[in-house]
Amino acid sequence: MKLQMLWLALVLLAVETNAAKQINNTSIPALIVFGDSIMDTGNNNNLPTIMKCNFPPYGKDFPGGSATGRFSDGRVPSDLIAEKLGLAKTLPAYMNPNLKPNDLLKGVTFASGGTGYDPLTAQMMSVISVWDQLTYFKEYISKIKQHFGEEKAQNILDHSFFLVVSSSNDLAHTYLPRAHRYDRTSYANFLADSAVKFVRELHKLGARKIGVFSAVPVGCVPLQRTVFGGLLTRRCNEPLNNMAKQFNSRLSPALDSLDKELDGVILYIDVYDTLYDMIQNPKKYGFEVANRGCCGTGLVAISYMCNSLNPFTCTNSSAYIFWDSYHPTERAYQVIVDTLLDKFISKVL
Ligand SMILES: *[C@@H]1O[C@H](CO)[C@@H](O)[C@H](O)[C@H]1NC(C)=O
Ligand SMILES: *[C@@H]1O[C@H](CO)[C@@H](O)[C@H](O)[C@H]1NC(C)=O
Ligand SMILES: *[C@@H]1O[C@H](CO)[C@@H](O)[C@H](O)[C@H]1NC(C)=O
Repeated sequence: MKLQMLWLALVLLAVETNAAKQINNTSIPALIVFGDSIMDTGNNNNLPTIMKCNFPPYGKDFPGGSATGRFSDGRVPSDLIAEKLGLAKTLPAYMNPNLKPNDLLKGVTFASGGTGYDPLTAQMMSVISVWDQLTYFKEYISKIKQHFGEEKAQNILDHSFFLVVSSSNDLAHTYLPRAHRYDRTSYANFLADSAVKFVRELHKLGARKIGVFSAVPVGCVPLQRTVFGGLLTRRCNEPLNNMAKQFNSRLSPALDSLDKELDGVILYIDVYDTLYDMIQNPKKYGFEVANRGCCGTGLVAISYMCNSLNPFTCTNSSAYIFWDSYHPTERAYQVIVDTLLDKFISKVL
C-alpha cells in the first residue's frame, strides 16, 4: 500500500516536472517553420497566386477579426505551437514587408499555401517551393548574424524547434500530372524521399531539433468528398488516403534512421490517426460537423471562392472541423496541437 502511494507520488512529480519544462521559454529560443497552408501566416499575400486568403471571412475569429493570410478562421498551428512554447501568440510570416529585425528573434514561418515537396506543386500554384524556403532561411540566418551577432545565430540554430509540414498538395493535386511517370505507390515514396532530403538539407544548414509532420487523411477534406466521394454519399477518397498512408509508412522509419545517423533530434510527428479519428467521431471532440466546411456551403469553397459575397458561411466555426473545403478551423487545429505536441516538445527541450 505504502509502495503504491510512493509510486503515485513519483508519477505526479514526473507529470509536474514535465509541465514545468513545457513552459520554460528559455530552452527553445525560436520556432522556425517550413511548409504549406497549414503553417502559412501570410507569406502568399504579395505573391501573384490564386492561393490567397487575405480577405474576409478568413480571419473572422482571429484577434481583431483581420484576414492576415492565414488559411483558417483564426490562428494556425505555427501560431498555436509558438504559444505552447511560450514564445508568442502568433508567428510572423517571413515575407511580411513590415518585419523589423527584432521580430525575427522568436522565429518565423517560411510556409507558403499551396506548396509541396514536389517542385511542380509550387510551380503550378505560383507559390514558394519548400526548397526556395531553405534559401530564405539562409537569408534569415544572415540577418540574425548581421543584427545580433554570430553567437545569437548559433544559439538559434542549436536550440530552436524546426517544423516541416507538407505533402497534402502534392498528393491531392500533383499526382495526376505526374501519373505518366509514377504509380500511386512510387509517387508517395518519391515524396517521402524528398521529405528526408529536405531534412538533410536543413540539418546541413545547422538545424538540430527537427519535427516532420506526417501526411494527413487528405482524402477526407470536404473538397475531396464533393469531387470524388459520390454525389449523395460524399465519402472520403480512399485511394488518396492510401497514398497518404504509403507516404507515412515510408517516411517514419526513414526519419528514425536519420535520427540515429545525425546529431540532434529528428522526430516523425504522426497526425494522420488523430485527425482521422476526429473526422470519424466529431462529437467525441465537441464538434458537430466534419464533412462540410464552415465557409460558404462548405462543399467546394476555398481561397477566392470562400469570400464575403457568399451568404451561407456558418456563424459558429467552433462546431466545425473544417473552415473551408480544405483547411481545419482554429479549434480543430487546437485539438490536434493539444493532443499531440506536448509529447514531441518534451523530446526537444
Ligand atoms: C529552463 O532553461 C534554463 C536555461 O536553458 C535551464 O537552466 C533551466 O534548468 C530550465 N528549467 C526547467 C524547469 O527546465
Ligand atoms: C519567458 O520567461 C521569462 C522568465 O521566466 C518571463 O519573464 C517572460 O515573460 C516569458 N515570456 C513569454 C513570452 O512567456
Ligand atoms: C459553438 O459550437 C461549440 C461546439 O459545438 C459549442 O460548444 C458552443 O457552445 C457553440 N457556441 C455558440 C455561440 O453557439
